[in-house]
Amino acid sequence: MTTEPLTRPIITIAQHIAETQRKFPQATGDLTWILSGITLATRIIESYVRRAGIVNVLGEYGTENVHGEIVQKLDLVANETILRVLGYREIVGIMVSEEDDDPTIVKSPGAGGKYIILFDPLDGSSNIDVNVTIGTIFSVLRCREDIDESEGALPHILQRGSYQVAAGYVVYGSSTVMAYTTGDGVHLFTLDPSIGAFTLHTENVRMPAQGKTYSVNEAYYDSFPAPVQNYLSWTKQNGYGQRYIGSLVADFHRTLLKGGVFLYPATDKNPSGKLRLLYEANPLAMIAEQAGGAAWDFNERILDKRADALHERTPLVIGSREEVDRVLSFHK
Ligand code: AHG
Ligand code: MN
Ligand code: MN
Repeated sequence: MTTEPLTRPIITIAQHIAETQRKFPQATGDLTWILSGITLATRIIESYVRRAGIVNVLGEYGTENVHGEIVQKLDLVANETILRVLGYREIVGIMVSEEDDDPTIVKSPGAGGKYIILFDPLDGSSNIDVNVTIGTIFSVLRCREDIDESEGALPHILQRGSYQVAAGYVVYGSSTVMAYTTGDGVHLFTLDPSIGAFTLHTENVRMPAQGKTYSVNEAYYDSFPAPVQNYLSWTKQNGYGQRYIGSLVADFHRTLLKGGVFLYPATDKNPSGKLRLLYEANPLAMIAEQAGGAAWDFNERILDKRADALHERTPLVIGSREEVDRVLSFHK
């Protein structure tokens, strides 16, 4: 028996996007169409996540991806699902996936392709088989109009994160939650399994300005840059707690709601950091800033960085503004 007051409106994500789009007269409803495609794809992915072990999606697929990582079956199912759903939406031009070496040209910008969808179809792959929270991350750019067709897809894709028109993620946790922004705040939706729809539960999320939780894989401590080591020593003398789930989306979602800071610095194994700029750092940086937080690569703002390559990695420190500032103060 629900104790929910009947007055609380049920707002689906499509309705919310449409209403948000109405605030922007020049909006054409395109983003609504793209984000509704993303919600459909993530609902399908979620149905596999919830049945892992019953349907054959656990374990390794056996191949390696462009990053030299062993591909999990669910990585591929998620990747195929997003390509199949969004690849047939008129206005989508280019799709960039963590799992694909090269971009998928759905419709070239010259032939009417308007948007670029960049995504990490399944984030936290190492956690799939042990039933720990995983997620999907997405970023949306508009194809540029000042590029000649002959220059190919890369100049459209390698835009600064500040040019994103939408970004978000879905976290497949104890409940399935989608966070998205189109530059007008961050809004959270929970997938209601009884109706199969994402329904609004928090508008304009604000990330706490502080939070005494740091999130980092301290196994790499010895190979972190000295300023990061000094910061980590400081946290232990100042009453901080440590949380690390090993799925970026889950560690970020906790940071968004509770405050704190997540760090994935450069290490000997990953001298440019492990996380990818275009479809992990950029979308979460847009969400973080829209919620009042910050995201840097320890030297510059993530959203100012211009990628030189599709799968370029970046160090990342992201979270509460005051906590990120404190980490950066050790780098001055
Ligand atoms: P993905 O599964 O998409 O490759 O991402 C995994 C990432 C990220 O989710 C997480 O923060 C990080 O890998 C964990 O890396 P370590 O295991 O090195 O801590
Ligand atoms: Mn990832
Ligand atoms: Mn992934």
